[in-house]
Amino acid sequence: MFARTFIAIAALVAAASATTVNLTNSCGYQVDPGFYPAATASDGSSTGGFAVAAGSSSSVSLDSTWSGRIWGRTGCDASGNCQTGGCGSESCTSPAGSGVTLAQFSINSWDSLDFFTPSTTDGFNIAVTITPGSGCTTSPVACTGQDMGNGCNATNSCPTGTNYTISFC
Ligand SMILES: *[C@@H]1O[C@H](CO)[C@@H](O)[C@H](O)[C@H]1NC(C)=O
Ligand SMILES: *[C@@H]1O[C@H](CO)[C@@H](O)[C@H](O)[C@H]1NC(C)=O
Ligand SMILES: *[C@@H]1O[C@H](CO)[C@@H](O)[C@H](O)[C@H]1NC(C)=O
Repeated sequence: MFARTFIAIAALVAAASATTVNLTNSCGYQVDPGFYPAATASDGSSTGGFAVAAGSSSSVSLDSTWSGRIWGRTGCDASGNCQTGGCGSESCTSPAGSGVTLAQFSINSWDSLDFFTPSTTDGFNIAVTITPGSGCTTSPVACTGQDMGNGCNATNSCPTGTNYTISFC
């Protein structure tokens, strides 16, 4: 009885500590987000990336100490051969080479804060906007070109537990 209650509570706490990221493809073409390191797909499997059709969205969760990069790949076939941002497979196990716009996140990095940055440090291939969800008052930040965008390259923070939307285009 005690054990079962404990397991139920532990499961609730684990679910509450994950960060949900909504990937919205506002482009007129397919975008294949890549994740490095892997994220957790909505079916619970580990994923390094997948296709999101034009005008569609998908969500993943990031574990409680995830630190890494998310980027949009363009012109990909089903094997993950892409015109930009390719990592050698549809589900990435390594970061892309240079030339891509990055959405960088460090979840629960310090002082119960997440840090995030849209960045063109490695180049630019597609506009990326990061919008925090409820519980955070930080405004959306974006890179809309190599040298353009409100908050491009700047590091922002939100309380850990905030969810995020990453929009492409
Ligand atoms: C992502 O956010 C958009 C805009 O709020 C919403 O319409 C869509 O349903 C969300 N997608 C997922 C997979 O949660
Ligand atoms: C962001 O950093 C990159 C690499 O240093 C630079 O090329 C770009 O101009 C910067 N973008 C902005 C908006 O400052
Ligand atoms: C984040 O998303 C999860 C899953 O959709 C939800 O249960 C949780 O309430 C959301 N958190 C916030 C702060 O909106």
